[in-house]
Amino acid sequence: MQWTLIVLLGSSLAETTLGWMYHYSNESMTWANARQYCKTNYTDMVVIQSQEENNHLVSLLPNRTGSPYYWIGITKNHMNETWTWLGNNSTWIGNESWAENEPNNNHSTEFCVEIYVNIWKNRGRWNDEKCSNKKYPVCYKAQCNETACGRGTCRETINNITCLCEPGFKGDRCQTAVECPYLPQSDNGDFRCSEGNQTFNSTCQLKCHLGFLPTGSSTITCEANGVWSGPRPICTSYKHALLAVVGCGALSAVGCLCCCWMKRRKRKKLAQVRQTEEATCSSNEVHG
Ligand SMILES: *[C@@H]1O[C@H](CO)[C@@H](O)[C@H](O)[C@H]1NC(C)=O
Ligand SMILES: *[C@@H]1O[C@H](CO)[C@@H](O)[C@H](O)[C@H]1NC(C)=O
Ligand SMILES: *[C@@H]1O[C@H](CO)[C@@H](O)[C@H](O)[C@H]1NC(C)=O
Ligand SMILES: *[C@@H]1O[C@H](CO)[C@@H](O)[C@H](O)[C@H]1NC(C)=O
Ligand SMILES: *[C@@H]1O[C@H](CO)[C@@H](O)[C@H](O)[C@H]1NC(C)=O
Ligand SMILES: *[C@@H]1O[C@H](CO)[C@@H](O)[C@H](O)[C@H]1NC(C)=O
Ligand SMILES: *[C@@H]1O[C@H](CO)[C@@H](O)[C@H](O)[C@H]1NC(C)=O
Ligand SMILES: *[C@@H]1O[C@H](CO)[C@@H](O)[C@H](O)[C@H]1NC(C)=O
Repeated sequence: MQWTLIVLLGSSLAETTLGWMYHYSNESMTWANARQYCKTNYTDMVVIQSQEENNHLVSLLPNRTGSPYYWIGITKNHMNETWTWLGNNSTWIGNESWAENEPNNNHSTEFCVEIYVNIWKNRGRWNDEKCSNKKYPVCYKAQCNETACGRGTCRETINNITCLCEPGFKGDRCQTAVECPYLPQSDNGDFRCSEGNQTFNSTCQLKCHLGFLPTGSSTITCEANGVWSGPRPICTSYKHALLAVVGCGALSAVGCLCCCWMKRRKRKKLAQVRQTEEATCSSNEVHG
């Protein structure tokens, strides 16, 4: 019975844009019931995190000329506790949030907060009140959900939602994978990429035509920063490849000869030193 009545009386603040949608009820109720009303019908009681949001909310609510005003989602359980917002336990309070001489904790039992939506100087300011008093609920409905931000996390903002993308994804809803520089098909081979894409997490393999070989690693992967994991492989003909191998071989042969010669020289020198020190002893190893 009671809920039906409240739902009928509940009003939405027609905001057609994305982002938080504020809703209020014309039925006054205790803070606890107001919160339950919000959780049943929307997401939760309104949470304010900046002066801008505070002003925005006030501008959307109907003006009232006296008590009761509207409950907001900041509370505490004991006198010595810090005022804490519902949701993420934020303790944000602006320099201009409280009305003059508030919070006054009248009777040491005022652990809930109302916002003055009137036309006087306290407009938009807060007042601590007894939670058992009856005021109008203001609720919000979150626009973020599991699917709102493809590959990212969703943040509510006043008139919009913002998506923070996982590495490797971009776009205002994180719906697009980051691209790597396009790999051109070469005359001597073809790149085969996973799912045909050259985007984050794609692996491309260079398949060389008959008679050709890939230089270096034939497989590269597109990384989250839009850079390939290695240099772009190319296909070279067997002849070139062979020449390269032979060239390398020749080079190492020269290197080896050089190395051997140096070693020999060193040994000789050592032997000479030893010979002068111990004139009687000569090493077979050196001359042999
Ligand atoms: C907020 O604080 C309460 C009590 O300390 C705790 O139970 C709750 O998990 C907290 N919520 C978040 C979102 O940190
Ligand atoms: C609580 O959430 C609001 C809105 O998402 C955010 O601006 C604020 O930084 C958060 N505070 C804490 C303490 O996490
Ligand atoms: C404290 O509350 C009583 C009613 O419970 C009220 O008459 C009085 O004006 C309040 N004092 C202040 C300072 O708000
Ligand atoms: C509420 O009062 C403010 C300040 O006097 C005024 O600017 C605003 O237009 C009023 N809003 C409504 C809906 O009457
Ligand atoms: C999720 O949120 C997006 C953006 O706010 C909205 O377009 C979509 O309809 C929502 N999906 C569901 C299942 O609520
Ligand atoms: C909402 O945010 C997206 C980027 O996250 C932006 O492209 C869009 O224009 C915004 N919409 C409004 C109404 O501010
Ligand atoms: C590859 O691209 C197609 C079409 O462009 C797209 O539908 C598909 O999701 C992409 N796959 C990956 C893994 O990004
Ligand atoms: C990258 O691809 C592998 C398999 O191809 C998959 O298991 C993994 O979840 C992908 N990573 C992302 C971030 O998409």
